Amino acid sequence: MRVMQNETSDEAARVREFFSARAARWDARFPDDGPAYQAAVGGLALREGDAVLDAGCGTGRALPPLRAAVGSGGTVLGADLTPEMLRAAVRAGRDTCAHLLLADVCRLPLRDGRLDAVFAAGLISHLAGPDSGLTELARVVRPGGTLALFHPVGRAALAARHGRALSPHDVRAEPNLRALLADSGWRLTSYADEDDRYLALAART
Ligand SMILES: C[S@@+](CC[C@H](N)C(=O)[O-])C[C@H]1O[C@@H](n2cnc3c(N)ncnc32)[C@H](O)[C@@H]1O
Repeated sequence: MRVMQNETSDEAARVREFFSARAARWDARFPDDGPAYQAAVGGLALREGDAVLDAGCGTGRALPPLRAAVGSGGTVLGADLTPEMLRAAVRAGRDTCAHLLLADVCRLPLRDGRLDAVFAAGLISHLAGPDSGLTELARVVRPGGTLALFHPVGRAALAARHGRALSPHDVRAEPNLRALLADSGWRLTSYADEDDRYLALAART
C-alpha cells in the first residue's frame, strides 16, 4: 500500500474515524452485493488494457470485477483515505488485483489524463466538497473517459433505511448531479435511481 499524503484535515479525520470503526465488518455487513458491483462495473464499458481507478475503494469490493474487465495488461488503482479500509482490502487479498493508494481523491498523485475511467461507489456523499472531488477525478481522466457513481441501494431506500426524508438538496439527485458534473468536467450520460441500484454514468468532456 502506498501512502501518498500525511496531512489530516478535520474532514479527513472525520471520514477516517467513521470508516475505521466499520472497516473490520464492512464486507460481512453487505455479503450479497457482489453481482450488483459487477453489473455496475459493466456500465463503464472498460476494454482490455484500460487504466481505471476505484475512488474511495474501501475494502476493495469493486477491484476484482475491475481487474477482470481490464485484464492482466490493464491498470487498476484503488484509492482511499482510511487506512483501516485499505488494510481490510489487503486481508481480503484484493491487493493482488490492484495497486492500493492511501490518498485523498481530491488530491490524487496521478498525472493529467492518466486514466480511462473512474468507478466510485458510496463516495460522493462523503466528500465535503463534491465539486472539487469531481474536478480532480476529471483531471486524471482522458477526454472521452468515463465515470460511474454507484451505490447498491437507491436514494429513497437508503434514506428510509436511515430514517431520513429524501432531500431535494441531495447532491445525488439528478438535477443537482447533472449541474455539478457539468461544472466539473463531466457530462451525465445515464442516470438510474431504483430501490436496489443507484448508477450515474458520465463522460469526460
Ligand atoms: C461508503 S464507503 C464505500 C467503500 C467502497 N467503495 C464500497 O463500495 O464498499 C466510502 C469510502 O470512501 C472513502 N473516502 C471518503 N472520502 C474520501 C476521500 N476524500 N478520498 C478518498 N477516500 C475517501 C472512505 O474512507 C470509505 O472507505
